[in-house]
Amino acid sequence: MKIVVLGSGTIGSLYGAFLSTVNDNEVILVGRNPHVSAIHSKGLQIRGIMGEHTFHLDAVESATEIVDADLILLTTKTYDTIPAIKTAKHLIDKGAYVMLIQNGLGTEERVAEELHTTKVLRATTCMGALRTEPGIVTATGCGLTELGSRYPENYDYVMKMTDMFKKCGFEVSASKNIEGVVWTKTLVNCGINPVGALTGFTNGEVYKNPQLRGLVIQLVEEAVKIVKALGIELTTEDPVRYALGTAKATGDNINSMLQDIQAGKRTEIDSITGEIIRLGKELGIETPSNESVYALIKAIESKYLEDSDVMVDIKPLEVKELVDSVTTS
Ligand code: PAF
Repeated sequence: MKIVVLGSGTIGSLYGAFLSTVNDNEVILVGRNPHVSAIHSKGLQIRGIMGEHTFHLDAVESATEIVDADLILLTTKTYDTIPAIKTAKHLIDKGAYVMLIQNGLGTEERVAEELHTTKVLRATTCMGALRTEPGIVTATGCGLTELGSRYPENYDYVMKMTDMFKKCGFEVSASKNIEGVVWTKTLVNCGINPVGALTGFTNGEVYKNPQLRGLVIQLVEEAVKIVKALGIELTTEDPVRYALGTAKATGDNINSMLQDIQAGKRTEIDSITGEIIRLGKELGIETPSNESVYALIKAIESKYLEDSDVMVDIKPLEVKELVDSVTTS
């Protein structure tokens, strides 16, 4: 099988590397320099808890030059999904499947709509990885990859992919309720990620601090109201306990949103908290705590991003009179 990994950063490189070890798979990584040129000169080196390996894989900077593929594994940040998948349109038009391994909500529908295909699979991952240097990825956590598709006609293919990922050594399960899987993960992310990102705390430090723990609970409880209104069945009976349990279990982790802020990169706040706020508005459900953390993360992003637009309509606080009285007194 010919597999193209679009967005070969840490997670994409990790999956691509191990997928190349089975079924005569040919894997092409599509990434950025200097990662791509380091892979050309020294191979892709994997370190950490999955052992030390060097993989000699093809790596390119754009999918436009690739002629054919059976599967496109898309592991970009959520905001890069559509620009990235458009570069592989010719491969999808020829029949390739797309599998999105990402955080956040709504990307499968957007890809299906944009590229007029329902050959779209979705996965959530609890794998953790860091890019130590260009060409080197360190696996820091080995967790479950859950796979499914919102399009039932793909279920046989989901099972085939589940077997293939298992053969590579990943812990994988297939789900017929991928929406529930994605929402369950999103609730964890909407609770932990902004709180860790705003305080600079590890997940364990967030968990141990009673005020921050309270904020995580509030954020998740607001989002659960939306899940209930949408009639989505979560994969846990107690999402608050699950989010706190994840913070405790991944105590040493610097969550991905905090990593983005530390690296001066755009965060995934829009596809996590932003989507929750947007859906809340559609459904008439208030999400004040989520609105507050959203505004704070956007404010931090605006210090280093030229185009950190506020994508959802959050209510600015009514401070004009107060500001006027302070400035005139
Ligand atoms: O985004 C992340 O960092 C992870 O999904 C999680 C589970 C919050 C652990 O840090």
